[in-house]
Amino acid sequence: MKKRILITGGAGFIGSHVVKLFVEKYPDYLIVNLDALTYAGNLENLKEVEGAANYKFEKVDIQDAEALDSVFSNHQITDVIHLAAESHVDRSITDPLAFVKTNVIGTVNLLNAAKKAWNGELDQHLFYHVSTDEVYGSLHDGGFFIETTPYDPQSPYSASKAASDHFVRAYANTYKMRTVISNCSNNYGPNHFPEKLIPLCINNIKNMKPLPVYGKGENVRDWLFVKDHARAIDTVFHKGEPGETYNIGGFNEWKNIDIVRLLCKKMDEKLGREPGTSEQLITFVKDRAGHDLRYAIDATKIQKELGWEPSLQFEEGIDLTIDWYLENQDWLDHVTSGSYQDYYREHYES
Ligand code: NAD
Ligand code: DAU
Repeated sequence: MKKRILITGGAGFIGSHVVKLFVEKYPDYLIVNLDALTYAGNLENLKEVEGAANYKFEKVDIQDAEALDSVFSNHQITDVIHLAAESHVDRSITDPLAFVKTNVIGTVNLLNAAKKAWNGELDQHLFYHVSTDEVYGSLHDGGFFIETTPYDPQSPYSASKAASDHFVRAYANTYKMRTVISNCSNNYGPNHFPEKLIPLCINNIKNMKPLPVYGKGENVRDWLFVKDHARAIDTVFHKGEPGETYNIGGFNEWKNIDIVRLLCKKMDEKLGREPGTSEQLITFVKDRAGHDLRYAIDATKIQKELGWEPSLQFEEGIDLTIDWYLENQDWLDHVTSGSYQDYYREHYES
């Protein structure tokens, strides 16, 4: 049967790369992008595919159960790739309930809509839930997260993602829904909303504004280029074993302060500034509440069982990313106007 895939959150950072990959690579599939277009969703991310014959957009909030039912029946949806979420840890600290509403209730609404639409033939469809390595908590003594690491979420964001993962597994167990989950490390690349560390620093370096480093900048994250994550999602969707979980990561750990210094060095070169100019912008600020020390993914399972691995070296990906931001000033202007200004003032200047 020709697939008719509902991709949620397809106007966001990762979702837009997944939508573009699927629309372009699979002309026989219908790709329905469902997104509420919150502050993080932007149809400009999808310019390349908006006119494609196999692409449709639905502006719908996953909190609206009735609207979800209509989308499933109007488009005869056969499979789901669920990315829609509130995704920023700092926002989850100031407004945890928003994260419960979208990430937990929204995910359960989507599971219910799929279960209703696929009633009697649940074994013929796939519900793919895209999640995060943050559900595993924080690593303090070396080691890596593997698929069986016990959940230990530490922030309201990761607690809401952990809850959504549990609901997906509960629907697989209780109703025999075919599901698959992947948990990925930190993504970076084009279209990343500039509230997150890498695009925030790129934007601030460009504008000679302070670079806010939380605590001492010693926290460690594992970084993966967003298009490699989209390729991994394609791989898991087509080759993953239903009921399984796959960890996705870049085998690429960095301390925050080292990433900020790398961005400063590269941008001084690209902008023709004296070496050391941008580093002077580094400002150590109050630490994030409950800040997880280290995340590190062991992505051996997806590598060995499904044959996926990252394609880009980090410095190559960072060069592409900086160049994209320097060449897409309009995109940055659009997303940093309006409510972004209020968020930035409240978060960094109060
Ligand atoms: P994002 O914030 O850039 O995009 C989220 C998208 O979801 C936006 O387009 C937004 O409009 C949409 N959305 C939010 N609430 C919605 C709602 N109630 N109904 C419908 N749409 C809604 O997020 P992202 O960084 O692209 O992350 C996508 C997914 O991947 C999330 O589930 C996130 O937890 C997961 N993830 C992200 C990373 C990362 O490094 N960014 C890593 C691992 C997993
Ligand atoms: O690990 C996967 C997760 O990565 C995803 O599930 C989340 O959706 C995504 O936002 C990301 O979470 P992080 O909290 O790791 O990303 P963020 O870019 O917000 O922060 C990266 C690190 O940089 C973290 O240790 C906090 C720090 N930081 C962040 C900001 C925004 C700063 O030092 N200064 C900042 O201004």
